[in-house]
Amino acid sequence: MLEVADLRVEFRTDEGRVAAVRGVSYQLSRGEVLGIVGESGSGKSVTSLATMGLLAGSSRVSGSVRLGGTELLGASDKELSRVRGQRIAMIFQDPMTSLNPVYPVGYQVAEAIRAHHDVTRDAARRRAVELLDAVSIPNPTERVNNYPHELSGGMRQRVVIAIAMANSPDVIIADEPTTALDVTVQAQILDALRIARVQTGAAMLLITHDLGVIAGQADRVLVMYAGRVVEAGTAEEIFYAPRMPYTLGLLGSQPRLDVRAQRLHPISGAPPSALTLPPGCPFAPRCPLAAPVCEAEEPLLTGTNGHLAACHFSDQLVGLEPGDLFRPVSQDTTL
Ligand SMILES: Nc1ncnc2c1ncn2[C@@H]1O[C@H](COP(=O)(O)OP(=O)(O)OP(=O)(O)O)[C@@H](O)[C@H]1O
Ligand SMILES: [Mg+2]
Repeated sequence: MLEVADLRVEFRTDEGRVAAVRGVSYQLSRGEVLGIVGESGSGKSVTSLATMGLLAGSSRVSGSVRLGGTELLGASDKELSRVRGQRIAMIFQDPMTSLNPVYPVGYQVAEAIRAHHDVTRDAARRRAVELLDAVSIPNPTERVNNYPHELSGGMRQRVVIAIAMANSPDVIIADEPTTALDVTVQAQILDALRIARVQTGAAMLLITHDLGVIAGQADRVLVMYAGRVVEAGTAEEIFYAPRMPYTLGLLGSQPRLDVRAQRLHPISGAPPSALTLPPGCPFAPRCPLAAPVCEAEEPLLTGTNGHLAACHFSDQLVGLEPGDLFRPVSQDTTL
């Protein structure tokens, strides 16, 4: 369905070149959910924006993005605008950036339908009510007349999901769709996304810094660090048999809802600046397993049967828990 190969994105800035995405490849099959996780700045959003052809002039993008066999990189604005909305829909963190504050939400859903289909206003409006109902907006016949500011954040995100569904896209890209919402609303939005997927048959790219969002949603997961994919595998492999210390560290950094009285084992330090990437493995300065070879040579992303990791010491991770590599968070809270 969607095939991204060796995607690279560089920004020219006053301070120099920023290598934001460094050779990312992935495939998305029909109906599949691919999760992308990584800390802030790892290149998740830039990867998705480049996939949609939505990056501004200061960027240099190379590689290949094929949707159903058609190359999108380098396609004209006219070709791309036909693809966006109709074949690929995008959902962002803040629904206010996607919605227009001066139009009622029902009108905005109906317009999304009419932009790509020759239907009457009445038919589009009826369909808009159906879609709002599908994403569990109560009283959709009345809610269609509400302006975005009259709805809660969670309701607004449902409207954005309804707009994404409007044209039965092949691919839905959701970039931190639940990050701005509290935990109970998060779960409801994830449900709405699942409904959107099932009703449209779309494949989904689910981008988040929170592994908890991906658990139970994604079929496969990419872990990104410093603009690269550092581990790729099925959700099962990523959660239960990670082969890259960074992935294990992420697992140890986040509380699990199914475990009581647990200690977190976060990764110390911060990701490197994309302006000054160290030679070798960019995770080496934070990695408990780092050896001289890690600082000399950036490991390739390799593995078998689709479970890939970029680490010189992947084999040593077999059977390890986060607490075996990373120190527990300090209990001492005195200043
Ligand atoms: N327009 C831009 N100009 C220069 N650098 C940029 C630009 N957009 C992004 N970057 C840089 O590219 C890198 C990747 O950014 P990106 O937004 O993809 O991160 P992210 O993984 O989505 O993080 P977050 O979790 O914070 O959303 C960062 O170092 C960022 O500073
Ligand atoms: Mg982002």
